[in-house]
Amino acid sequence: MSWSHGYVADIPYTAHYHPQQSPDVLALACLLNRTESPLPARRDDLTYVEFGCGRGRTALCLAASNPGWRVIGLDLLPAHIAEARALAAEAGIANVEFMEADLVTFDPTMLPEFDIASAHGFWSWVADPVRDGLVRVLAARLRAGGLLHLSYNALPGWQGAIGLQRLLLEAGDRIGGRSDRRAAGALELAQALRAAGAMHLEASQPSGLIDRAKSVSPSYLSHEYMNRFWRPCFQADVQDALEPARLDFVGSAELLENFPELVLTAEQRAVCDRIDEPRLRELTRDLCMPRPLRSDVYVRGARLMSRDVQEQALRELVLCLTRLPDEVIYALKTATGTATLSPDFFRPAVSALADGPRKVGDLLSATGQIGSAVDLVGLLVGSGQAVVVGRPDAEADPDSGAVRHNRAIAAHILRGDPAQSGLASIRLGAGLVCDPDTMVAAVQAAETGDTRRPGAAPPDGRRPIWQHAGVLS
Ligand SMILES: C[S@@+](CC[C@H](N)C(=O)[O-])C[C@H]1O[C@@H](n2cnc3c(N)ncnc32)[C@H](O)[C@@H]1O
Repeated sequence: MSWSHGYVADIPYTAHYHPQQSPDVLALACLLNRTESPLPARRDDLTYVEFGCGRGRTALCLAASNPGWRVIGLDLLPAHIAEARALAAEAGIANVEFMEADLVTFDPTMLPEFDIASAHGFWSWVADPVRDGLVRVLAARLRAGGLLHLSYNALPGWQGAIGLQRLLLEAGDRIGGRSDRRAAGALELAQALRAAGAMHLEASQPSGLIDRAKSVSPSYLSHEYMNRFWRPCFQADVQDALEPARLDFVGSAELLENFPELVLTAEQRAVCDRIDEPRLRELTRDLCMPRPLRSDVYVRGARLMSRDVQEQALRELVLCLTRLPDEVIYALKTATGTATLSPDFFRPAVSALADGPRKVGDLLSATGQIGSAVDLVGLLVGSGQAVVVGRPDAEADPDSGAVRHNRAIAAHILRGDPAQSGLASIRLGAGLVCDPDTMVAAVQAAETGDTRRPGAAPPDGRRPIWQHAGVLS
């Protein structure tokens, strides 16, 4: 067994900012499910640990956006940790630490007690002893009331990929060389087999990969498909494995998945709603939905809140749009078709958000209170059209960690580094997902006040979204 326990270690992974790992999104998943979570109580002294942090873009952006937090990113691959540390040093972000560590042998006392943990794209990609190591650390160090976000390839949604992954691994072994070379060679065999009508490569999910093969990054392909012990999982098995950490299942960090009416047909709901026990309920839902990746939220000792407390907490949230008001989409594509955000309810709220962040309570007043806070927040944030503004009163600081982070990322992009990061914001308390062009434009506009650069402003001269949302002010 290699030092990486069968995990791909000869090529770095791609780098991305993953918004569903942000504590505000995770706390919102809890709130939508009427469950207490570490936010907002620990808004300014939270300890957050990301396991399998890869190249560290999410951990770094969260640290830059929350100067009072202690953020720790932990990963096995030295190249990942070296890059993340170098970027943190370049941006001068001191409240983040990156640890090179193997969870199989990791001593939990190396970590402080933490409030929130996230392991995105980790669980189904690593060997059993690595998973056991994660559970051991969670059992020892996650605070009572603390939250875990865990994403993984789910069964049965991703069962169609099992044969393809095995083929890539076996054929790759015979080809030899670096993981990306093995993956690319093996994929040619998969393409030939598929063209010949191989029954188990016809299934919709993996055939998508086979078709898209040329446009998929070699790093992604390697880390996704060339790990020796990759295994998609049933939610119930994950929950069983987490037992020593005393975690209760709460819901999904993919916020729209917390709305059964968006992901299940009426007939499916009628059957699934008969079931109270969470694991069986999740299995019945997974049998109905085309869900290849689960993004589960667990709490150590879940405490349910009343509907009144939930309503009050939702009304206190401040939201801002992530797109211009007339670009808001009211017809959402869902697993069961299209869901329409009722214009009578949502349009007045969107208009009220046109001038910048607003409290949900005020938005509900603008709508004439004809809908629920759960729908307003869950559907706008869940569809990525609004975000929670964690610190609406934050003062602009031209030398904040967030500004330095964004400047460092923009400098990397201009030097030809295509890796994707979030636009850090102390006001949001999280990153705003943006493409590299927008990142560079936002940073240049903040420094020069010039929003005319291509990508910096919509063509008709309206304010670009990061100004509109007050993210940089
Ligand atoms: C698929 S990547 C996901 C990276 C990152 N979370 C993301 O989504 O961009 C899985 C990560 O787990 C890390 N990993 C694998 N085995 C590990 C171990 N034994 N201990 C700690 N990290 C490990 C890998 O180095 C890799 O960065």
